[in-house]
Amino acid sequence: MNGRGMTRRDFGKVGLAASFAAWTARRAAAETNSDTLRIGLIGCGGRGTGAARDILNERNENVQLIALADVFEDRLNGCRNSLENDGDEAISGRTNVDDEHCFVGLNAYQQLLETDVDVVLNATPPFATPRHVEAIVDAGKHVFAEKPAAVDPVGVRRVIAAAEKAEEQGLSFVAGTQRRHQQEYVQTIEQIHDGAIGEVLAMQAYWCGGYPWSREREEGWSDLEYRIRNWNFYSWTSGANIVEQHVHNLDVMNWVKNGHPQSVFASGGRAWMPEEEIYGDIWDNFSCDFEYPDGTHMYSFSRWWPGGTDGSVHERVTGSEGVSSCTDMGESGINPFVQEHINLVNSIRGDGPYCNEGRELAHATLTAIMGRMSAYTGRRILWNEALESDLSIVPDELDFDLEYPVGPIPVPGDA
Ligand SMILES: NC(=O)c1ccc[n+]([C@@H]2O[C@H](COP(=O)([O-])OP(=O)(O)OC[C@H]3O[C@@H](n4cnc5c(N)ncnc54)[C@H](O)[C@@H]3O)[C@@H](O)[C@H]2O)c1
Repeated sequence: MNGRGMTRRDFGKVGLAASFAAWTARRAAAETNSDTLRIGLIGCGGRGTGAARDILNERNENVQLIALADVFEDRLNGCRNSLENDGDEAISGRTNVDDEHCFVGLNAYQQLLETDVDVVLNATPPFATPRHVEAIVDAGKHVFAEKPAAVDPVGVRRVIAAAEKAEEQGLSFVAGTQRRHQQEYVQTIEQIHDGAIGEVLAMQAYWCGGYPWSREREEGWSDLEYRIRNWNFYSWTSGANIVEQHVHNLDVMNWVKNGHPQSVFASGGRAWMPEEEIYGDIWDNFSCDFEYPDGTHMYSFSRWWPGGTDGSVHERVTGSEGVSSCTDMGESGINPFVQEHINLVNSIRGDGPYCNEGRELAHATLTAIMGRMSAYTGRRILWNEALESDLSIVPDELDFDLEYPVGPIPVPGDA
């Protein structure tokens, strides 16, 4: 299926009998999902509100948003008001969330999963994604999960396991790596796979942009509230820019190669971020040399730097017979943020190919994490070393009464 979703063949290790069981489960799931699909959203911030709009788009028939969950009431209310008052009738008319289906707090996601929602959109900051995705699949719901999959290898493994379980249960799993649903990418990468630029010799990936929004700490906010509300800048909440945003470009590179790197050698630093709580403990730039099993190198550059610096967000593939931007041989189509939700609903109803992008999302995330691990330690990191690593940076216990000190800022050679 052109790499935009996981087929049984891509899943590889699933045996024939297990594959048949998964196919049967998918048929059964499709039959029970022909009526109205009830949607729940976990993480009602900017992207979550956008994802709700995207799945309620007019092309998706018989979908209703019925439940919301967020750790903070003001975020949930902002999302609910915005959707209920949307000028597009397809969105406001199909936002039917009553007070009993609004859940607030750190366990709100579990309460939402106890309702009769069929599909759950998770758009929380990355630290919470593995826990939520695991719970969504355990509850037997279809998944849309924003990128990245996790912030550490332990979280990545949880998402891989959840994706495999989703396959066994016939549950669809679409990821917020929307380039996989963008026609320019889909058509161009298909042509690259068909040999349009010859043998792929080298690749480059860039997410060099300005730094994202930040928030000053307000009076009365505990450590945890501040970390979650200003989540971009702490390693354990966002994974750092290489994981949080560059994952998009790394996913495209893995897609071109139909695989993942076997090693990485990286460096980076903290060039401009003043050492203040608001800017957390992450580095602001990473440069990585990834090597794939066939010897192809991919050079990756990611940074969050202030205004006045040049930005660049793109990919480039050099082949033996040409060069491609990964979009230059395709035609533009439907907005990929919308297309991914059309593909999700079609997958759930059996009206289109089955989508399970959980493993691809997890692999792109691990690619980014191994780059960060190499930069922070100053060591070459192998894929298997990262995949099997016990590195777990999200605190076991999340409690508004506990303290979550910032740092230390990584120093190569220390870890
Ligand atoms: N695909 C894309 O291009 C794209 C674009 C933007 C953001 N994103 C992703 O979407 C996610 C959210 O980003 P955002 O910009 O919307 O951030 P945001 O801060 O606006 O929204 C996050 C929301 O999640 C809530 N939240 C945090 N922890 C929670 C928990 N444990 N349980 C329930 N709710 C919780 C927050 O209160 C907030 O309302 C991130 O993973 C980000 O990478 C993807």
